[in-house]
Amino acid sequence: MATKVIAIANQKGGVGKTTTAVNLAACVAAAGRRVLLFDLDPQANATSGVGLDKIEGASSYRALLGEGALSDKIQDTSYERLRIIPSEVDLCGADIELARSEGHLHRVAGALRPVVETREFDVVFVDCPPSLGVLTLNAFAAADSVLVPLQCEYYALEGISMLNRIMGQLHDNGVNPRLELLGVVMTMFDGRTKLSQQVVDEVRQHFGDRVFETMIPRSTRLAEAPSFGKPIIYYDKYSAASAAYEVLAQDVAKRLGL
Ligand SMILES: Nc1ncnc2c1ncn2[C@@H]1O[C@H](COP(=O)(O)OP(=O)(O)OP(=O)(O)O)[C@@H](O)[C@H]1O
Ligand SMILES: [Mg+2]
Repeated sequence: MATKVIAIANQKGGVGKTTTAVNLAACVAAAGRRVLLFDLDPQANATSGVGLDKIEGASSYRALLGEGALSDKIQDTSYERLRIIPSEVDLCGADIELARSEGHLHRVAGALRPVVETREFDVVFVDCPPSLGVLTLNAFAAADSVLVPLQCEYYALEGISMLNRIMGQLHDNGVNPRLELLGVVMTMFDGRTKLSQQVVDEVRQHFGDRVFETMIPRSTRLAEAPSFGKPIIYYDKYSAASAAYEVLAQDVAKRLGL
């Protein structure tokens, strides 16, 4: 089966993109699929989230500029079937460098193509930075679909219309005609507050069944796990947050036909 490429994106900062990328990748790998986590954010939080140090020159930066193969950047993690293309701060420069280069929206797609063609992974999760800049647009151009984490708070829907419009544009202008919305995942859900439920209701009105049934609860254990370099299923397997990401992984795998 062809490798599926999923961009995890929301231009809003701190909504749970990286937490979702790391934990979804870990859960899907634990469930038996071969997973590549592609850290495309110069903040490199997904890289440290699976326990890797930020190493100079280890990121995709050079490969995206056409120097060397992206496959040489793939590293093992401590977890079976979970591999990673790490990030480090040099990716900051990629935004500007890529913008000036030829075919600048297709750099990630081009670099990833040989990896996808080997079919050594079932799925690639791309953790995007909090913007709709060149790196995120590159991820959209390379992806089959986009997964949008939305934080359960006021203004959750703010900016989503822009994301939707940009996806539509990439679709219509031929940059990526196959791009779809895989789904919306509600994060930091707090069942004790009315607000969380109101936000979920509003988001469901907009996105209907594209919103995943499973919601990620607000959890201190989840927020702690990255400082130990561990996905939640390895940090606190019996927590509610761990269970939520395991179920989300099943839902995502089902939608992807994995
Ligand atoms: N369900 C949750 N419960 C509690 N804390 C959470 C949860 N999800 C994420 N966090 C915490 O919220 C912060 C932001 O999460 P995260 O880094 O995943 O967001 P992001 O969208 O990737 O941020 P950025 O836009 O900066 O890349 C982190 O400190 C993270 O540990
Ligand atoms: Mg992030």
